[in-house]
Amino acid sequence: MRPKSGLPKRRALRSKPLFEHGYRSNPNTAKFRHPELDGQRMAGSTSVLSLFAGCGGLDLGFLGGFRFLGKIYEPRAFHIISAIDNDEKAIETYRLNIGEHGRVSDLSVMAPSELPAATVLLGGFPCQDFSSSGPKLGLASPRGQLYQVLVNYMALHLPEIVVAENVPHLKRLHGGKYLETILQEFEACGYEFDVWELYGPDFGLPQSRRRLFLVGKRADLPGRPERPQSTHVVRRVSIDEALDDLVSVQDESVTNQSQYFVATKATAGGGQGDHTNKRGEPAYCIRANAKARIQFHYELDRRLTVRECARLQSFPDEFVFPFAAMSNMTQIGNAVPPLLGHVVAGAIQEYLVDLHSNKIARDSRPPRQLPRQMDLVDMARG
Ligand SMILES: C[S@@+](CC[C@H](N)C(=O)[O-])C[C@H]1O[C@@H](n2cnc3c(N)ncnc32)[C@H](O)[C@@H]1O
Repeated sequence: MRPKSGLPKRRALRSKPLFEHGYRSNPNTAKFRHPELDGQRMAGSTSVLSLFAGCGGLDLGFLGGFRFLGKIYEPRAFHIISAIDNDEKAIETYRLNIGEHGRVSDLSVMAPSELPAATVLLGGFPCQDFSSSGPKLGLASPRGQLYQVLVNYMALHLPEIVVAENVPHLKRLHGGKYLETILQEFEACGYEFDVWELYGPDFGLPQSRRRLFLVGKRADLPGRPERPQSTHVVRRVSIDEALDDLVSVQDESVTNQSQYFVATKATAGGGQGDHTNKRGEPAYCIRANAKARIQFHYELDRRLTVRECARLQSFPDEFVFPFAAMSNMTQIGNAVPPLLGHVVAGAIQEYLVDLHSNKIARDSRPPRQLPRQMDLVDMARG
C-alpha cells in the first residue's frame, strides 16, 4: 500500500541509532544549555533531588536551557544533586544527556538517610497502577506504594518544596480516594499541597497529554507557588507543525528518526484504540507501551518514529536515546514533557525567589507546626 503522500512505505533502517554526542556534550547546544551541564553553578541556584528520574524529562525541564521548535527555554536557577531510578537503560540515557549525577538504585529498599538533603524534591512516582490504560491496582500493589519513598524523604529531610507527578486518572481512581490518601500522607509530614492538572497543548506541547502535579511547600513557609497560567489556549501547536520537516528524513541525520515499529496494528487489543493522527491538531498521547494502542503518522503510511515521539514530548533533537526502539519508546512515553517541567519549575523558582527575598508577607496566622522530629523519624522508619 502506498501512502497518500506518494512516499513509499518503509521499514526501520536500523535497530540502534547513530549519534556522536549526548545533549550535554553536543557543540550545537553549547550556547543555550544549562551551565550546570558544563559543571558551572548559576548564582542563587537551588538544590534539587530527583527520584524516579527516568531518562530525565522532568529534570531537563526543571533545569531548562534547551531549544524546542525554534524557541529557547531559558535555564532555571536549579541544580540537581542526584537523580535516581532503578532502570539501568533510563539512567544511561540520563547520564549521556544530562549529567553524571544519574544513578541506578532501587528506591524501595533505600533508607531515606541514604539520600542527600535538598531544598526541592522531585518525584514522578510510577503511574502504571493509576493509569486508565494500566491494570488499575492502585495502592494495592507494591508499585502503587512507591509514593511512600517521597513521604519518608519529606519526613526526614524536610525539603522546602516537593513536586510529585503522576497521571490524571489518579484523581478519579477509586472515587478519588487514592489521591486523597496520598495527599493526606504527604501533608502529615508538615506540608500543604495543591494539585495542578496541566494540559500540554495549553502550554504549546504538540500532543494531547495531561499530567497531575502535586505541588507541596513546607507548612511553616508563607505563601504558596502559583499555578502556571496557560499560554496557548487560543492557538494550539499541531502535530504537523512539530513534525513536517521530518517527513522526508528517513535516516539518522536526525538521531532516532530511522527507528520505528513496522507493525500496522497493536499486538494487544487487535488494533482497537489505534489512532491515526490528524494534520492541524495536537498528536494523541504518546504512550510508554509500544505494543498496545499505537499511533500512525498523519500523512505517511507508518507509525511514528522514536524521534517524532521524542519531539511530540518536547525533547530537543540533540537529546538522544541510545537504545533499540522498544526501550527508547518506553523511556520517552514515561517522561514528563520537558516543556511542562519548565513551566512548573518557573512557578517554583518564582516562589522561592519571593520567599527568600522576604517578598511574601508572613500571614497573621501562626505557622502550622511541623510534626515533632521524633514522630517524623518513626514515620520514616515505618
Ligand atoms: C513515570 S516514570 C518517571 C519519568 C521521569 N520523571 C521523566 O520525566 O523522565 C517512573 C520511573 O520510576 C522508575 N521506578 C519504578 N520502580 C522503581 C524503584 N523501585 N526504584 C527506582 N525507580 C523506580 C521507573 O524505572 C520509571 O523510570
